[in-house]
Amino acid sequence: MSNPSEAELIHMFKGILFTTRSSPELLKSLDTFDAREDDVLLVSYPKSGTHWLAGVITKLYDTQVTLTSPIEFGDISKLEELNKVSSKRIIPTHLDYNMLPPNFKNKKCKMIYISRNPKDTAVSMYHYYRDNPNLPTIDTWTVFFDLFLKGDVVCGSWFDHFLSWEEHENDKNILFLFYEDMKKDLPKTVKEISLFLGLNVSDNDIQDICKKSSFSEMKSDTEKENSDPGHTVCALTSNRKLIFRKGAVGDWKNHFTPKQNRRFEEIFNEKMKLSKM
Ligand code: A3P
Repeated sequence: MSNPSEAELIHMFKGILFTTRSSPELLKSLDTFDAREDDVLLVSYPKSGTHWLAGVITKLYDTQVTLTSPIEFGDISKLEELNKVSSKRIIPTHLDYNMLPPNFKNKKCKMIYISRNPKDTAVSMYHYYRDNPNLPTIDTWTVFFDLFLKGDVVCGSWFDHFLSWEEHENDKNILFLFYEDMKKDLPKTVKEISLFLGLNVSDNDIQDICKKSSFSEMKSDTEKENSDPGHTVCALTSNRKLIFRKGAVGDWKNHFTPKQNRRFEEIFNEKMKLSKM
């Protein structure tokens, strides 16, 4: 069987590339989505640590919560499917702030935005493109590097995504987290998340959650299929096994040439000149 064509895999909606697993009809109807006050949104640009964060958050609750698939993943029946979830919903999304259903904003739902060094994000996404049959074929890192900087990848430009959310960093209902901080001191971040969500979690429980959320534990749980391999919180794949690759900070140094690094820094400084990052 021949490989699917690019048009079969991706499409453009409002200037941003999506996989065809996010149908245009669903994307068009997102504005009508009915949020609930107690929904929690888990927001990220792809490859920023979404599954890690989801693993932590779901372990913090001692009441029933449902980690749904991403709001933008699926066809038009998705909204109805989410309506039917009777327990509290933790809803992942890779949407830009401007594309988020307005109801989440009006109801001031809690949102957690996780971000990661864009150089490591680019490298992680490159490997993901190579391994994931739902994404177009990429021949070399050099080709991907250019696409990433131009924002010609699924979910669009990392810079635009980050900036659209950073504009709201002082909103009380939004918590900003960094992958690198989680790597440095996971218990501290878990405590911060629990306070933000208004959950009372003991230090012992936090230690236990951190142990169960380590890269090796999460990877081996997935390999042993202790968790449903089809349940991902990324709208780009339905194979959880593709997620746990290396889990390291600084892998970009193994991929970027000095010239690529200079170019990245130039574009970063230009695009992020108004950012506090
Ligand atoms: P790498 O490809 O650099 O290894 P997402 O969940 O947003 O798709 O992000 C995936 C990235 O998060 C992958 O990065 C993956 O290895 C990393 N990751 C997943 N779980 C992790 C964990 N428990 N600890 C550290 N990194 C983790």
